[in-house]
Amino acid sequence: MNTTWPLAQQLTSAPSRPSRVRGSAPRPDDHVIVAFGATGDLARRKLLPGLFHLAAAGLMPDRYQIIGSSRRSLADEQFRELARQAVAEFGTSKPEGAAWQAFQRRLSFASAEPGRTGSLAAAIERAEREIGGTPGRLFHLAVPPMAFEPTVRMLGAAGLAPGSHVIIEKPFGTDLSSARALNSTVHAIFDESQVFRIDHFLGKESVDNILAFRFANGLFEPVWNRRHISYVQIDVPETLSIEGRADFYDHTGAYRDMIITHLFQVLGFAAMEPPTSLDARHLREETAKVFDAVKPIDVRHVVRGQYAGYQDEPGVVPGSQTETMAAVRVEVDNWRWAGVPFLLRSGKRLAASRQLVTLGFHEPPLRMFPVLAADTRNGRRNEIVIDFADPGSITLGFLAKEPGAAMKLGAAELSFHYDDSFSVANALEGYERLLLDAMLSDQSLFTRADAIESLWEISAPLLEDPPPLQPYAPGSWGPQPSLDHLAAPYHWHLPGAGPAS
Ligand code: BG6
Repeated sequence: MNTTWPLAQQLTSAPSRPSRVRGSAPRPDDHVIVAFGATGDLARRKLLPGLFHLAAAGLMPDRYQIIGSSRRSLADEQFRELARQAVAEFGTSKPEGAAWQAFQRRLSFASAEPGRTGSLAAAIERAEREIGGTPGRLFHLAVPPMAFEPTVRMLGAAGLAPGSHVIIEKPFGTDLSSARALNSTVHAIFDESQVFRIDHFLGKESVDNILAFRFANGLFEPVWNRRHISYVQIDVPETLSIEGRADFYDHTGAYRDMIITHLFQVLGFAAMEPPTSLDARHLREETAKVFDAVKPIDVRHVVRGQYAGYQDEPGVVPGSQTETMAAVRVEVDNWRWAGVPFLLRSGKRLAASRQLVTLGFHEPPLRMFPVLAADTRNGRRNEIVIDFADPGSITLGFLAKEPGAAMKLGAAELSFHYDDSFSVANALEGYERLLLDAMLSDQSLFTRADAIESLWEISAPLLEDPPPLQPYAPGSWGPQPSLDHLAAPYHWHLPGAGPAS
């Protein structure tokens, strides 16, 4: 025990493992990072800007090399230029000055495809020699889902898997059998301890903060259950269209792109039991238990929508039945949550872009106060609203007496805004945080094989027999009245978005 700390702090600060409970910014060991799909959309938007931001923030290893890879060939110089443009367009740190010069010197490119891995293997060997010692090796599969298995097999055949870590993107499979097949291919080549199934929502500060909010305070957890909470909403509408991603999106749709991935992962954090500790084993055990307790989806509790004009997007198959919006009502069938509806909604070209978890509380047992619906926000009284779009906020809605002789109540709120309370200058974006964790071998915020399989299992009724698509107007909230029926007797709502949300 650290005897220089005050006693009270010694008694209350006993992290079981250093990995998640870090006192200072951690620095990973030396690494070679290989980014497959390095010329693609994800690498340009997230991966390359994220790695540069980590470097500029002093969070990359002392010595590292980044090798971009894809089927097509690119000279190192071309890859550096592609990276510079990507960072300029999408990065928080601009590609200039000494930091950029040092970063871009570490970038190189080697093409690879199954049966043709010689130049990649040589590039990795060269990078490892240059770094010296035995650096960690991290493969990031920023490739389309159908390329996951061939890429994993290719790594196995090229003998590159031993001792390395692999980041695999979402969606992990398209249904239960494909997820099982993918897991078994991965496990034939990598041990589960080497596998990092990424879902960048779990890297968002405010999603991680759900754990702190619940488990670092004595205030909220005692009411975080069915006795006090009547509904939970996880709502991620987007104003974006499919942004030229028809190749990916038209095979994927809103349910697989967002709900079974990002929204269910957030549900895992909102619904879990207190973990024994914050280390990866305990945390992942608790989210897996939540997914295990979710009842199979009842297709009567699903709304699938497609925005008018989707079929005219370049690359979309004529007559496509892909949903661009999905909403589901699910139940977590355990002692904490039985009977509480969890309403999950996400879609493209909706009226606003928001990322919210809302927990609505039961009304008090005695109606002592006359409350006019007009005095509350859409009839809502007590809610905790966690806005997890960066930089994030938490708001508690309650009723308060308005000043004056009459006992008249009005809506009031207590709120916490990250950027008012803390410096957000050092904040990491979801991907950045998770890339750092993968280099640190910390799997806490990455999904376990069985947890993903449980999610596909509960989704089977929907995937086998999807309800018909309903059209919606771009800029609306999605198909009505179906969405309202799904939420009844509760209401969808987004603070600040007016009543028709
Ligand atoms: C991605 C989805 O995983 O997440 C996109 O494929 C979606 O369709 C995006 O727009 C949302 O992420 P962010 O980083 O904007 O919160």
